[in-house]
Amino acid sequence: MSFLSATLSRVKPSPTVAMTAKAAELKAAGRDIIGLSAGEPDFDTPQNIKDAAVAAIAAGKTKYTAPDGIIELKQAVCAKMKRDHGLEYTPAQVSVGTGGKQTLYNAFMATLNPGDEVIIPAPYWVSYPDMVLLAGGTPVVVETSLDTRFKLTAEQLESAITPNTKWFIFNSPSNPTGAGYSRAELKALTDVLMRHPHVWVMTDDMYEHLAYDGFEFCTPAQVEPGLYPRTLTCNGVSKAYAMTGWRIGYAAGPVELITAMRKVQSQSTSNPCTISQWAAVEALNGTQEFLAPNAELFKRRRDLVISMLNAVDGIDCPTPEGAFYVYPSIAGLIGKTTPAGTLIDSDETFCTALLEEADVAVVFGAAFGLSPNFRVSYAASDAALTEACTRIQRFCASLV
Ligand SMILES: Cc1ncc(COP(=O)(O)O)c(C=O)c1O
Repeated sequence: MSFLSATLSRVKPSPTVAMTAKAAELKAAGRDIIGLSAGEPDFDTPQNIKDAAVAAIAAGKTKYTAPDGIIELKQAVCAKMKRDHGLEYTPAQVSVGTGGKQTLYNAFMATLNPGDEVIIPAPYWVSYPDMVLLAGGTPVVVETSLDTRFKLTAEQLESAITPNTKWFIFNSPSNPTGAGYSRAELKALTDVLMRHPHVWVMTDDMYEHLAYDGFEFCTPAQVEPGLYPRTLTCNGVSKAYAMTGWRIGYAAGPVELITAMRKVQSQSTSNPCTISQWAAVEALNGTQEFLAPNAELFKRRRDLVISMLNAVDGIDCPTPEGAFYVYPSIAGLIGKTTPAGTLIDSDETFCTALLEEADVAVVFGAAFGLSPNFRVSYAASDAALTEACTRIQRFCASLV
């Protein structure tokens, strides 16, 4: 019998991390690899946030805190929820964790029993199904399609709900597609959920501030106040404030759930880094003036990448509303062969060949539960994006 747990055998390591590691390995071996596989902004944490961290260290704020965060950060989260979404929360309804990842994981650990189902629209962020499996639940994956620009329809949600459904996980703008639901599209989903009072909503709003072309971000409890008592609104500072390494995420929801999540965290990691928490207080309470110029910069990059990819015969790339990803289809390239003789029979072989033969790292769609596609992260310089897309164009043109 294996020394390792049976639960772990059902889980796979993160494919995005694996692709980024493979690209780093080739780079270390001297190859000129352009990596578009990592999901983090390429710019630095704003100075006012760094200063707040330095000030926290100087003031000796370096000890343990309450397991799920300092009151000042919970208050800042409450203020943000009110300011941006008109939602009222008290600090007792807020949990702060080591990245958005931990708060999502805590919520699953705190609530899932064997047999409990979690509806996950595909393509999905790679961690959702594996977190559900680790917590002992059953992922119910519902595939979307290019026709709806990767958005779940009300009919699809309705037919996925069973008496065992515990959570519906919602992510807009989405990793990996960038798709953002309009208020009307979201309302169609919340109307379905109102008819099923046993289903809770976990909304992952991590890319809230990365939205373009006047897209109006909205979150489920704001669109349908009737869902407030069964919604966990998850967010974090990683993407909008370029703070991926600081590891601060947060969630707001019913007190009973937040208390249960605190119990999980208190017996695993305890508090997230104290210094990072003070930095996050500044991120949420301090100036927000860099958000709009950053979004403008990302929008320009999105447009650059989409126009270059859509120029390729065999690639179809819709224009998403937000995040810093695009999710082109390579349906038109399946069945072709690379110059080195590899038959492109899946998005995984396409991405592996692209890395090995054209020195560009992207992530294959199967990792996100919808093929044949690949994810490009355009959180990279204009020069790197132009060169990478030129290589992709050249590589695709070389297929026979
Ligand atoms: C959709 C989504 N949710 C959550 C996270 C986790 O963010 P964090 O780095 O704060 O743990 C990510 C990170 O890639 C993400 O893309």
